[in-house]
Amino acid sequence: MSSVNGIVRVAKRALDSLVDKSLFISEGFVNGKWVSSTKTFPVFEPSTGGILGHVSDLGRDHFVTAIESADAGCRKYVNSTTAPERGLLLRKWYDLIIANKDDIAKILVLENGKPYAEAVGEVLYAASFVSWFSEEASRSYGDVIPSSAPNTTVLTFRQPVGVCGIITPWNFPAAMITRKIAPALAVGCSVIIKPPAETPFTAAALVKLAIRAGIPNDVIHLVPTNDHGIAAELVTNPVVKKLSFTGSTKVGIHLSQLAAGTMKKLSMELGGNAPLIVFADADIDLAVEGTIASKFRGSGQTCVCANRILVHKSIAAEFTAKLVARVSNFKCGFGLDPDTTQGPLVSERGVAKVKQHIADAVAKGAKLVIGGGFPPEVVDHAGYFIQPTVLTGVTADMVVATEETFGPLAPIFEFESEQEAIDLANATEFGLAGYFFSRDIGKIFRVAKQLEVGMVGVNTGKISAAESPFGGIKHSGIGREGSKYGLAEYEVLKTVTIGNTNL
Ligand code: SIN
Repeated sequence: MSSVNGIVRVAKRALDSLVDKSLFISEGFVNGKWVSSTKTFPVFEPSTGGILGHVSDLGRDHFVTAIESADAGCRKYVNSTTAPERGLLLRKWYDLIIANKDDIAKILVLENGKPYAEAVGEVLYAASFVSWFSEEASRSYGDVIPSSAPNTTVLTFRQPVGVCGIITPWNFPAAMITRKIAPALAVGCSVIIKPPAETPFTAAALVKLAIRAGIPNDVIHLVPTNDHGIAAELVTNPVVKKLSFTGSTKVGIHLSQLAAGTMKKLSMELGGNAPLIVFADADIDLAVEGTIASKFRGSGQTCVCANRILVHKSIAAEFTAKLVARVSNFKCGFGLDPDTTQGPLVSERGVAKVKQHIADAVAKGAKLVIGGGFPPEVVDHAGYFIQPTVLTGVTADMVVATEETFGPLAPIFEFESEQEAIDLANATEFGLAGYFFSRDIGKIFRVAKQLEVGMVGVNTGKISAAESPFGGIKHSGIGREGSKYGLAEYEVLKTVTIGNTNL
């Protein structure tokens, strides 16, 4: 079915088949109302490059209105709800996301390109953050601290930081919104979401369901725009007290510098360059499965994707043969085609970067074992596709060693000693995720401690879950999302010292 006409027909049918068609929205949500603009921007369907729809490109005045409304909304919200009540609102939102998961997943496939099964997986992953923080809402504990002064008690209160600016990426159009706003809403903050221009429709569907669940309509706002200059209002406006961003390191550093002018609290989930090490004592089949899970999720477009596969020289041939056998079974195509295992990339720019990494590595002596071209199973040669690719003989002087590819390219480096693997793994400015495969318990502890990353996967390629702290070190960012630590990112700690308690 992967011809352009076929896909366009199925995409149209998919939109027509939404059980709740009102979830496909091309407007923003500001100050309790869905608002549109005559200025719009196009949203593309990545498996054809055709236009899926146009979305209102809102202006600076919409940001300002949203910020003012969110400021008032936040005060009312936190003073009029208890933590369990906020938890209950989130629970209702969770129930609605689950009830509408098929519709959300279809919208997500059409604007992001990932296969339907992966999109459903993402919606469940997104919902898991809402469920997690619906429970965590009641667990925001302060302290009672033994004082060094007589007749004195020191307490800490955790209070909502206030209005939060939320800037989300296109690679997880649903999960990156819920991972940020569920903890914010749980503690009593208000949020203004700037969705990605590539995937604004999923964001709007989630906001619609949040309002339906009873989240007050001045506490959640959605301001789509394709103009980064205008969106900077969220970053510089003094009323916004917290900025949470997921995206590239370059943009994250720029936003952090802009936000410094108003001393905002920051969460930055930025780029990665994850090493995946396969030691000689690893279970090779498990390592291959882990590599597939980590490297090819979202067609390689996640920040935690393995970017460099480091394999012990003694097992490199066997590992490569098994990996290539698995990759040769992949089928690229339209995400709503049930046979598709790999979707397109989100843009032509993404494809160009993968091609550039392959060409640079091959020019410097790497061997192209499989992939590298446009997938032959995709007829019409349309869409932002590139075949899943494996390179061997990759070395530290190649671009792929230092830059995040963000695509389906598995470059295999070889090493001989544990220390060499660790040194290679850490030879990057990034520090988000790292993976390794070994059956030696001593090595597991040694290597896990030495990898310079925020998250380590041992004998698994899957590390993301609502209960697990997500975040990086070095140039991969600041702060943690999800988990019991996620609430504190949206709170400020207040110290209350009560003196003369003997009065
Ligand atoms: C990301 O790529 O930004 C998020 C990946 C994840 O949550 O697993």
